[in-house]
Amino acid sequence: MINIEALFNISYGLYIVCSGDNKKGNGFISNTVFQVTAEPARFAASCNKNNYTADIIKKTGAFSVSVLHTEASSDIIGNFGYKTGKDFDKLANVQLIYGETGVPIVTNDSIAYFECKVVETIDVGTHILFIGELINAEVLDNSKEPMTYLYYRNVKKGFSPKNAPTYIDKSKLDSSKPKDSNYKRYKCEVCGYIYDESEQDVKFEDLPEDWVCPVCYTDKADFIEI
Ligand SMILES: Cc1cc2nc3c(=O)[nH]c(=O)nc-3n(C[C@H](O)[C@H](O)[C@H](O)COP(=O)(O)O)c2cc1C
Repeated sequence: MINIEALFNISYGLYIVCSGDNKKGNGFISNTVFQVTAEPARFAASCNKNNYTADIIKKTGAFSVSVLHTEASSDIIGNFGYKTGKDFDKLANVQLIYGETGVPIVTNDSIAYFECKVVETIDVGTHILFIGELINAEVLDNSKEPMTYLYYRNVKKGFSPKNAPTYIDKSKLDSSKPKDSNYKRYKCEVCGYIYDESEQDVKFEDLPEDWVCPVCYTDKADFIEI
């Protein structure tokens, strides 16, 4: 038997993983970057095969990781986590530096960054596990705390979209529980995104007033009950 809720107790951070060069780069939000060995220091990053960034990391052979802090804006998470760089230039309006391999490194809302050269690529089904050797790392801001995935879920009221390895199909999760007829659905009038309370941990009215649509970032006030 698998109780999916047990998996909510696994700790993760929240990062922007970036690759490419100064002409064409791209990045995505990841909560699955972790150190796998100490000597030499190697990191794993799990990247969905459909992510545009997956192809760029394969071509470039290197990636950067920016460690987001707890005050990271919804805009930055929306830009890198809910949209694909196949359609637009995600790096156009962010602060960048370039690493020793030439990969872009996003410095917005980040307290540290590191850069890795890919030494192994493991196909794990829906995702590719990029194993990278650490070649460069720096602290940007000592005054803030790193964002954890728990903080993102519980305080920021965020969730993982389908491409994230930790995505959970809430309908499966809730199938053994009686359906609560008090669940409501709200639609974003700008992009049509549906906030379905039966699939979320939080009632719509309990979301903070500065919560924004995870797809188009429009204000909470632009949602209507359907
Ligand atoms: C909180 C959060 C965590 C995520 N974690 C991962 C992850 O670990 N691996 C992954 O492949 N995608 C993850 N995603 C999804 C990607 O960031 C998302 O699919 C992104 O739009 C891909 O961008 P790209 O197509 O420009 O590469 C996550 C998204 C969010 C919001």
